[in-house]
Amino acid sequence: MKLQVNNKYYLLDDVELSTPLLYVLRNDLALNGAKFGCGLGECGACTVLVDGKPARACQLPVSTLEGRAVTTLEGLAPDETHLHPVQQAFIDEQAAQCGYCTNGMIMTLVGLFREKPNATRAEIKSALAFNLCRCGTHMEILQAAERAKA
Ligand code: FES
Repeated sequence: MKLQVNNKYYLLDDVELSTPLLYVLRNDLALNGAKFGCGLGECGACTVLVDGKPARACQLPVSTLEGRAVTTLEGLAPDETHLHPVQQAFIDEQAAQCGYCTNGMIMTLVGLFREKPNATRAEIKSALAFNLCRCGTHMEILQAAERAKA
């Protein structure tokens, strides 16, 4: 099958089609932005965008993605010298401690702001409710979200 990731097409001739997208991204395409956390669809570390909406890559067999557009953390920046505003806001607000959840937080917020550019604090919290951070940088993450939409 052909898989579209970050506006590039990849032929997956040697990949078992039931393989979760997360494994294909990390093991076959060397795109390591999405992280393996729980592998159960519960932590959000593996979040990518599918057709612009946040999705858990550990739960998506690649066979379900023919003809769909996958965007990973690596595909967010508009060019080589600028980051996506949400990525930049995470740096500016130092919104990571270990950073393992950061991919999921950023991808979820990018998806949210595409639909709701002026999302309220409550909507931001609701969108991030199932993205887990165990370090406790929740306040910085919320500040980064507010900065990104400003
Ligand atoms: Fe996919 Fe936790 S690794 S949700």
